[in-house]
Amino acid sequence: MRKTIIVSNRLPVKITEKDGEFSLQASEGGLATGLGSIYREGNNIWLGWPGQEISDPKQQEKITKQLRQMNLMPVFLTQEEINNFYEGFSNETLWPVFHYMAVYARYDQGYWDAYYQVNKKFRDIVMQVAEQGDIIWIHDYQLLLLPGMLRAEMPEISIGFFNHIPFPSYELFRLIPWRAELIEGMLGADLMGFHTFDDTRHFLNAASRILPVNTSANVVSYNDRAVVVETFPMGIDFNKFSALGNDTEVKHQLQNLRENFQQERMVLSIDRLDYSKGILQRLQAFELLLQLHPEYVGKVVLYMIVVPSRDTVPQYKELRDEIDKLVGNINARFRTLAWHPVQYFYRSFPVEVLAALYNYADICLVTPMRDGMNLVSKEYVASRNNNDGVLILSEMAGASKELIDAIIVNPNNIGAITRAIVDALNMPLPEQQRRMKQMRQLVSKFNINHWVKLFMTRLEEVNEMQQNMLAR
Ligand code: F6P
Repeated sequence: MRKTIIVSNRLPVKITEKDGEFSLQASEGGLATGLGSIYREGNNIWLGWPGQEISDPKQQEKITKQLRQMNLMPVFLTQEEINNFYEGFSNETLWPVFHYMAVYARYDQGYWDAYYQVNKKFRDIVMQVAEQGDIIWIHDYQLLLLPGMLRAEMPEISIGFFNHIPFPSYELFRLIPWRAELIEGMLGADLMGFHTFDDTRHFLNAASRILPVNTSANVVSYNDRAVVVETFPMGIDFNKFSALGNDTEVKHQLQNLRENFQQERMVLSIDRLDYSKGILQRLQAFELLLQLHPEYVGKVVLYMIVVPSRDTVPQYKELRDEIDKLVGNINARFRTLAWHPVQYFYRSFPVEVLAALYNYADICLVTPMRDGMNLVSKEYVASRNNNDGVLILSEMAGASKELIDAIIVNPNNIGAITRAIVDALNMPLPEQQRRMKQMRQLVSKFNINHWVKLFMTRLEEVNEMQQNMLAR
């Protein structure tokens, strides 16, 4: 029977190790939820890295067995591959360039070789399970070469590719020494998806300037094949976040927040540690607020969660130190005996705590310097069952193309962020409700299940179109 194979760098599991024994927990991430309806069915499968080095062959065998029962299949990476493929080419070369921070990029032949070899490793494992007629859906920038490598082996197979991060303008993309190989790899897909129209356009432009290909509207003709390139803005599990407001644990957490913040209004900020998220600029904007508006001293808190991420990559380590320093400065400068302006947490929290914060916060401040989509902004909106609350959103986040009823800001304009916070603090309830209602309708309708269905349906249509063209 025809099956669907999902491929991403990371599997949707968390692995914990205790006394040399590993245990597995299904992860609750948005993509995992959305694709759950696919990979758990029949003999469908999701293939990826379990997230840490597991070198002992016996342990590998044991984990493989456990994963196979969950319709998952591991691609084990050695420590060297983790260093050079994941931290190296993926996160020190592609990530900064794709997020318009090219000065951070390292162009290292060793990183590239590892990226090529690990994409090949993924190809070999996909080939162990793939059969003619299957559908393969590949995710994200760590696997840009995989569509092309699979196409070379299985010319007829159906391949979808989705890029979860921004695709940069040609002038940035062209900086990468292996730009042609990357575009060629991506063009192995039949259907390619991006979050925004701009990303789609940037890819089409890069493809036509780097390779001798013909592009007509959103179709690239390459090696006698038609590759369709389209925009699919990703959604979230709206119902889950909306329903969490009634969860007993969330209600308990909410009560704690009410007791702890009786006098203050809350501005909420939640991110992974990443220089693309604009965390320092956000702190500067909050500092400016307290400086220019002493009336808010003691009355507003910035509740800031930074989830540890990639902290072995040098820029991430440095960013963490800078955040510590700036938070320390702001708190030392403005705190009173009873009030801490910035409540900063460098750790991850269970979804119930996040849901309570989404429910409680007067304002959600999402100001990335660049972001493929940004799901935090959508999670905040989905959590606001009373239609109140204000979202401040960076115009550089993919989500700003959809959530046009947020207060939209340029994240480089510190003064504008400060003014947006003041506007949000003073926004009359009817206006909050009018804006939030519009955004909730959109986030509810274009949810994660809608996104998955749309992409899969489109992939089938594209395959039919290609077959008709061949038959002619
Ligand atoms: O936004 C791209 C992304 O790869 C997400 O899919 C993922 O949640 C996040 O970045 C963190 O990625 P990782 O921890 O795997 O490097």
